[in-house]
Amino acid sequence: MAQAGTKTRALQQRATEDPSGFWGDAAAAIDWIRPWQRVLEEDNAPLYRWFEGAQLNTCYNALDRHVAQGRGEQVAIHYDSPVSDTRYGITYLELQAKVARLAGALVAQGVEKGDRVVIYMPMVPETVMAMLACARIGAIHSVVFGGFAAAELATRIDDAKPKLVLSASCGLEPNRVVPYKPLLDEALALSSHPVQGCLVLQRMQCEAQLTPGRDLDWYQAQQGVEPAECVPVEATDPLYILYTSGTTGTPKGVVRDNGGHAVALAWSMRAIYDIGPGECFWAASDVGWVVGHSYIVYGPLLVGASTVLYEGKPVGTPDPGAFWRVIEQYRVKSFFTAPTAMRAIKREDPDTRCLKPGQLDSLRALYLAGERCDPDTLNWSARQLGVPVIDHWWQTETGWAICANLMGVDPVPVKPGSPALAVPGYQVDVLDEAGHPLAAGESGAIAIRLPLPPGTLPTLWQNEARYREAYLSQYPSYYLTGDAGYQDEEGYLYIMSRIDDIINVAGHRLSTGRFEEVLSQHPAVAEVAVIGVADELKGQVPLGLVVLKSGMELAEEQLYQELITLVRQQIGPVAAFKLVSVVDKLPKTRSGKILRGTMRKIADNQDYVVPATIEDPTTLDLVRHALTRLGYGHASIGGGAGV
Ligand code: COA
Ligand code: AMP
Repeated sequence: MAQAGTKTRALQQRATEDPSGFWGDAAAAIDWIRPWQRVLEEDNAPLYRWFEGAQLNTCYNALDRHVAQGRGEQVAIHYDSPVSDTRYGITYLELQAKVARLAGALVAQGVEKGDRVVIYMPMVPETVMAMLACARIGAIHSVVFGGFAAAELATRIDDAKPKLVLSASCGLEPNRVVPYKPLLDEALALSSHPVQGCLVLQRMQCEAQLTPGRDLDWYQAQQGVEPAECVPVEATDPLYILYTSGTTGTPKGVVRDNGGHAVALAWSMRAIYDIGPGECFWAASDVGWVVGHSYIVYGPLLVGASTVLYEGKPVGTPDPGAFWRVIEQYRVKSFFTAPTAMRAIKREDPDTRCLKPGQLDSLRALYLAGERCDPDTLNWSARQLGVPVIDHWWQTETGWAICANLMGVDPVPVKPGSPALAVPGYQVDVLDEAGHPLAAGESGAIAIRLPLPPGTLPTLWQNEARYREAYLSQYPSYYLTGDAGYQDEEGYLYIMSRIDDIINVAGHRLSTGRFEEVLSQHPAVAEVAVIGVADELKGQVPLGLVVLKSGMELAEEQLYQELITLVRQQIGPVAAFKLVSVVDKLPKTRSGKILRGTMRKIADNQDYVVPATIEDPTTLDLVRHALTRLGYGHASIGGGAGV
């Protein structure tokens, strides 16, 4: 009998030995306006480009060609919003017309090829239309997740320097309406880049007061405009910028090009998710994240599938059966969500009483990513849903999976805790500190040998130096993922932790550096350390330890509330910052480096060694005491300062 994964390994080998042949073949899935001169351009190594010289239009590939091929009447988007009690389908033909008109409105507002457009919108079809309208005219979109605060939006506006901002009057959370307009106004006041204008979609749950001379109503802006045609762009032109947390407080603008992105996503839809034209795919994420970009919007549409746009939660909208209803209603074949969502369902409905017999008849597999998937969650999901559960590992930078189980080509046995094998195109190694590949079973930094495959980031927006410094400088000829783990004898990878200060809260990637920046702004705070601690539901949550300036007289409860509010106002509710405690002193090395790793181990009850370089070992007792008061570390002593 053939060894499991034989085909995957053969594909890996071909993609490694002949990347141009492999990806040149895959590129046949895309309609090109002009063919490439070279599939892979290596002259500027370690910077690589894919499909140089080629021209295409991503929106054309996602919409127009399907209409031309007779898919006009097929539903492109199933919009399902339990929070607004709205459900309807949009066909490819309708979507094409709406996108072309919106693109016409952008042109009428002076947006040209290469201009940036920031999109700060909730999970409504107009957000998808906005992204595609930008792609249609060669403008570069930058979507900002709605759960971020004004200051985060402002940073992104200052970096991307958009001509226009597209927004909506509000987002809808299960327990509240989130008015976007005040956040937008504040962000524009905070940013130093002057935008030319804003298009605002009015939602009936909360109408916004438009600012005269700056804001235009979404639909009024489209009145009388000519629908825009697709413009040819270079394969190497940026399609979008998506900001993600780095180790410093300033987010990184991950650039995605047009050509490589289209090729890679189309390939992944078939090979990883086993989805083809006419089938239904659902990624229960948010368009503000990379999962939403790749697998709510571009991936499914590029292959002529139907996608589900879900404005709701796994639980509470209205119950833990919400996902099963959606899968049944649209006959979803492949479903993608974050492990957190499954944990939330498991917590509320451990026996899946809300899952009715036959509801998942159409479902072939559940895909999980965004954070480490603990074996318990994977096993529970597989048992309750009765389909294979596929953990796969990727990041905003790569845009699609680095390690996965190729369900459409060569399913391999699932090993809980592992996202399976390297996807063809990615040569993944586990390295020691000197950059030597480690043997199976040994843990180290996970790096990908260059070149990265198509669809991955060619650079950071207007900051090649940071791209080189953050990803390429540590190990020559490698891209540093920032994750650590090991590979087993069969090549299955295990992602265990980060090597930097990034934490993962409910599948949302956040930087502890940014939390520290914000907390330091409080007048009473002299010093602060933020770590990610294990959380049963969200995987990790942030926990802050602050040292106060001497002479500060503040009631602790009041201080904690102020610090929590500060983070919510500056980073956003999605930061989920609720744990904070005062300590007299932080543990540091003699050279002044805060021992965050040691604190994290204490909090998570892991074994740790007191570092030989510690300046004052008694500071660890202070930390242990503070952590136990928050319910972390050894034996809680109660009385908590957690709010
Ligand atoms: N706009 C405004 N606020 C938002 C928001 C948005 N788009 N998304 C989240 N928030 C707010 C929430 O309302 C919540 O606010 P609160 O503190 O007032 O309650 C806060 O941000 C935290 O949100 P969330 O992380 O969603 O936590 P939750 O406790 O409300 O829900 C889960 C828990 C598990 C149901 C939820 O985290 C979830 O669905 N996770 C799936 C993760 C996911 O899809 N990740 C994407 C990567 S694949
Ligand atoms: P993001 O850029 O927001 O998609 O976050 C990417 C990071 O999330 C990765 O670098 C990992 O740290 C983590 N991550 C994503 N998927 C997985 C997975 N399947 N297993 C373990 N960690 C994951």
